[in-house]
Amino acid sequence: LDDKLQYVSDSIRMVPDFPKKGILFQDITTLTRDPKALKLCVEAFVERYRGQKIDVVAGIEARGFIFGPPLAMALGVGFVPLRKPGKLPGETIGAEYQLEYGSDRIEMTVESITKGQNVVIIDDLIATGGTLGAAVQLVEKVGAKVHEAACVVELPELQGRAKLKATNVPLFVLLEKAA
Ligand code: PRP
Ligand code: MG
Repeated sequence: LDDKLQYVSDSIRMVPDFPKKGILFQDITTLTRDPKALKLCVEAFVERYRGQKIDVVAGIEARGFIFGPPLAMALGVGFVPLRKPGKLPGETIGAEYQLEYGSDRIEMTVESITKGQNVVIIDDLIATGGTLGAAVQLVEKVGAKVHEAACVVELPELQGRAKLKATNVPLFVLLEKAA
């Protein structure tokens, strides 16, 4: 890691046994409340996608809503929220994904992304890859192209990268952390 990403990495607080026993929680609120870490983090994404002909940034509720809008603004494109069920009005499409126990679902307003658009999907973290995989399905369902999926943190032990490989969508992360 270079100095900048090391600074971002160090700004993330690790909280043992949250939200349940055995989970080492990566708390990005300590990153976002540090103006230097927040700026470095957003700038790293902007540097990656500036000049790449991105049409839309799509962010996953909730924590993808933190990093998506500043990236979209810097690129001069719009931000589309991919939301938890029942939150979006109008015609929506959804995709289910597996959790440790049970399943969850994210939804997208059908006309919010159109055929042929080049989309960056952003979230704070990839663990098992279920969430990002579902997001890719949604964007591809309307005929758009996922340029890349982007996260601040990857937990490599949980094999999310391998899962996402099945979608052929590249994954870009700023840092890796132990699960
Ligand atoms: C967390 C995190 C990612 C997802 C990663 O979100 O913000 O979105 O889990 O896990 P996965 O790769 O195993 O799918 P969570 O659903 O806990 O909710 P939040 O973003 O609303 O806090
Ligand atoms: Mg999330």
